Amino acid sequence: MGYKFVLIGYPIDHSLSPWIHKQFLEKSKIQGSYSIYEIEPDDSFQDKIAALKDNEINGFNVTAPYKQRIIPFLDEIDRSAEVIGAVNTVVNQDGKWIGYNTDGMGYLRSLKSKYPSFYTDKSSRILIIGAGGAARGVYYGLVSEGFKYIDITNRTVENATEIAKLKAEDTNTSILPFHEVAKYLDNYDLIVQTTSVGMKPSSDRSVFSMDTIKAGCIVSDIIYQPIETKFLKEAQRTGALVHFGHTMLLYQAQYAFEIWTGKKVPLESMDHQLKLILE
Ligand code: ATR
Repeated sequence: MGYKFVLIGYPIDHSLSPWIHKQFLEKSKIQGSYSIYEIEPDDSFQDKIAALKDNEINGFNVTAPYKQRIIPFLDEIDRSAEVIGAVNTVVNQDGKWIGYNTDGMGYLRSLKSKYPSFYTDKSSRILIIGAGGAARGVYYGLVSEGFKYIDITNRTVENATEIAKLKAEDTNTSILPFHEVAKYLDNYDLIVQTTSVGMKPSSDRSVFSMDTIKAGCIVSDIIYQPIETKFLKEAQRTGALVHFGHTMLLYQAQYAFEIWTGKKVPLESMDHQLKLILE
């Protein structure tokens, strides 16, 4: 018996979440299962969700393409999911389904674990590249932590402008023109790449050249396939400190598991294991 967790999405046969959560169950000595619940495009989403509700599961993850579509079926959503407009984790609390988005927190936790000193200086200059769902989570997370200077650059300016609406009273955010941003890169202490450029199978691409970053700048790429993107390779060559996307994946899952069970599983050994799976 024990806890019952599932992952909904389509297609999900390549998802790493079942592996990660099975490790968490084992490490925390919690009895339970984590299985895949694929909802095909031709299925009735409503019927499939009703069946899930009858099943009395303790929680589930939601992946593409259902992160928004699940929202009307929830009883409550927390502030992170509301702001991001997408849910990736649902907990069943005494029959009530409550939705969360753990991506922003996942990014922040992984950054804090890898570069704790960066975290202490809230006046560091940050640039987010991209303005999709992931960028929204990262921006909101950084604003919530009190970082004061967070700029955004994106191919489509309007999408960046939308994200900047999430700023706090004391956040300073400029939207930089995508094609000129290389000129300004040396201003930043942290650069976060959130676009899909460089993801397998187009791993030979980088969103732009990193020649002008300053030495010691932290450069994150939220892509985890490949682990070492062209963007990160270029950044490293220029003297940057790199922060890999697969760690964010682990930490967002850690937070989801914590929401479900109250247990925060230590991740140290899993980082290496996940790398081996991805390589
Ligand atoms: P996610 O939810 O994973 O963040 P998304 O919402 O589809 O994915 O967002 C993808 C991001 O990658 C967006 O910032 C997108 O830019 P636009 O807002 O202009 O669409 C960016 N992106 C995708 N392909 C790109 C490309 N070839 N060049 C530059 N940016 C690209």
